[in-house]
Amino acid sequence: MEKLITSPNKALITETQLRTRIRELGKQISKDYADQELVLVCVLRGATLFFADLAREISLPLRFEFLQTSSYNDSTRPSKKIEFIRTGSNYIEHRDVLIIEDIIDTGRTLSFLLEHLNTLNPKSIKICTLLNKPSRREVPVSIDYTGFEVPNVFLVGYGLDYAQMYRNLPYITVIDPSCDAT
Ligand code: IMP
Ligand code: MG
Repeated sequence: MEKLITSPNKALITETQLRTRIRELGKQISKDYADQELVLVCVLRGATLFFADLAREISLPLRFEFLQTSSYNDSTRPSKKIEFIRTGSNYIEHRDVLIIEDIIDTGRTLSFLLEHLNTLNPKSIKICTLLNKPSRREVPVSIDYTGFEVPNVFLVGYGLDYAQMYRNLPYITVIDPSCDAT
C-alpha cells in the first residue's frame, strides 16, 4: 500500500496550496452571496474534507445537506449507471444551493445530481468543485467555482480515494491505478 504513494514532497497540490485556494474560494462565495443564506450540499464521500474546510471559510448563515451516489457498470449501457444511496433533500426547496464536489471528471455524476436537485425546486443552484479534469468531460457542465484545474491523471488524497483508501492524506498526489492496491 505504502509504495503507491509518492512522498509528501511530490504532492501535486500541497497543504499550503489547498489552504490558500480554499480561503480565496470562501471569500468569493461569501461576497457573491452577501446578505443571503446558503445551503451547502456535500457530495459524499470524496468532498468531505473540502466541504469541512470550505464551510469554515464562508462567512454566511449556512445549512448543511449530504448526498451520496454510487455508480456501477451496467452491461446494457456503454457507460456507468449512477444511483442515489442518500438523497438528503430536506432543505433544498426555495433556497440558494451550492453543490460541493471533490472532482468533476466525465461530468456524469454532476448532471445526475443537478437533475435530481432541480426537481426539488431550489431558488438557485451553483456548483463548486475543488478539482476539474476537463480533458475527460463527456457531459457538458457549467462550473461556478473551481479550486484547481488538473491534468488527466488519477489523484488521491484530501478526500479523494483509490479503492476507498488514501482519503486522509492532507495533500493531493498522483497514483498509478494500474498498480495493485492490496
Ligand atoms: P464523473 O461523474 O466522471 O464526473 O465522476 C466524478 C467522480 O469520480 C468523483 O466524484 C470521484 O469520486 C471520481 N473520480 C474521478 N476522477 C478521480 C480521480 O482522479 N481520483 C479519485 N476519484 C476520481
Ligand atoms: Mg465523488
